[in-house]
Amino acid sequence: MALTKKEEITEAALAAAVASVMEGCRAMAAFSDDPGRTTRLYLTPAVKAAHGYLRERMERLGMAVTIDAVGNLHGFYTAEKANAPRLLIASHIDTVPDSGGFDGVLGVILGIALIELLSGKRLPFAIEVIAFPEEEGVRFRLPFLGSRALVGTLEQDLLQRKDANGISVAEAVRNFGLDPTQVPSVKTGSGVLGYFEMHIEQGPVLESLHAPVGVVEAIVGQTRLEVNFRGCANHAGTTPMHLRQDALAGAAEWITVVENAAKRKESLVATVGRIEALPGVGNVVPGEVVCSLDIRHAEDAVRQQAVQQLIDAGEALATRRGLVFTTKTLLDQPAEPMDSALTAVLAQAVESAGYAPHKMPSGAGHDAMIVAPFMPAAMLFLRSPGGISHHPDESVLTEDVLAALRVGMNFLELLAAG
Ligand code: GLV
Ligand code: MN
Ligand code: MN
Repeated sequence: MALTKKEEITEAALAAAVASVMEGCRAMAAFSDDPGRTTRLYLTPAVKAAHGYLRERMERLGMAVTIDAVGNLHGFYTAEKANAPRLLIASHIDTVPDSGGFDGVLGVILGIALIELLSGKRLPFAIEVIAFPEEEGVRFRLPFLGSRALVGTLEQDLLQRKDANGISVAEAVRNFGLDPTQVPSVKTGSGVLGYFEMHIEQGPVLESLHAPVGVVEAIVGQTRLEVNFRGCANHAGTTPMHLRQDALAGAAEWITVVENAAKRKESLVATVGRIEALPGVGNVVPGEVVCSLDIRHAEDAVRQQAVQQLIDAGEALATRRGLVFTTKTLLDQPAEPMDSALTAVLAQAVESAGYAPHKMPSGAGHDAMIVAPFMPAAMLFLRSPGGISHHPDESVLTEDVLAALRVGMNFLELLAAG
């Protein structure tokens, strides 16, 4: 097949593509809701600016750029013939607060860099590079808004969910200049050859193996709960200890139960990452606590059993303390295997680039797990130096970006060869 023969991609072109990926991630990190740090939440002005940057880069490569009703940015690179199938190359461009510059963004910029390396040559399939505007679930405590809309699983009632300022998803969409009534039309049509996501590992495994890249076999399942402890606010000076209904003391006891439960079960991870005590004043016994629970395991049955045990434990300790314990399930996402045939092609692409095709599960959630039930999906991991992610020190090595580009071009070549 014409273009993708490795020898036709010069070392100089690859070096230029690596530099353009690093520059792209640096540029994207500056589009922030919070100057001096990188924080980019769903459909904020920082996303608008990031869209402008991505659009400019894509249009320079001759890609047709559109933004759908949920805010996914699509860059379309045509095939050698009309009506050919499409390969989706995607990841997310939202971030956690005070994030690094690579989680999600790197996958989008690498997708653009693969188009750069094609230098205008066309393949038997089109390529659609997609930047999802919401994967982390920070603004609305609802992860995967972009990819869920893409596969048609974003239920209409979720558009009414409000952020901390009382703005609903539908209003955020409208304020961004989009039409929330069109969200159902975001569902992608037929003719998708597959879905490919490149992402930093966000863990220490590849580094420990001295491996630049890895092939994801499956993504672990996750449950996210909103947990509420309701007690009774009262005067901190006059209320004796045995007459209190202290919601925060109850939540604190429960959080240690959560930690111990996860420590006792192999590979179970459980996190209370957010907590708010009300009224949140030093001289008032806390009357109410709202906190999060994020719990993950490769086996769905283990995860579900752990969730039930923690709910039972919360109810029991709340009753003992005179509190009311309630939970709301925000996400119950099963573990998701990647497509075995597409993953085999990816493993072959890794090997032909000269690397060991290390197969691994992903402990982090990814948009690939949302789309995988609907289309063949494969994921490539890049080593995370120090295993650090969701932190400003998150990084990636230029040699690993080079490895990912070699693998990506081999992957395109293998797919083109049929
Ligand atoms: C996404 O980063 C997640 O795994 O929570
Ligand atoms: Mn993340
Ligand atoms: Mn991510």
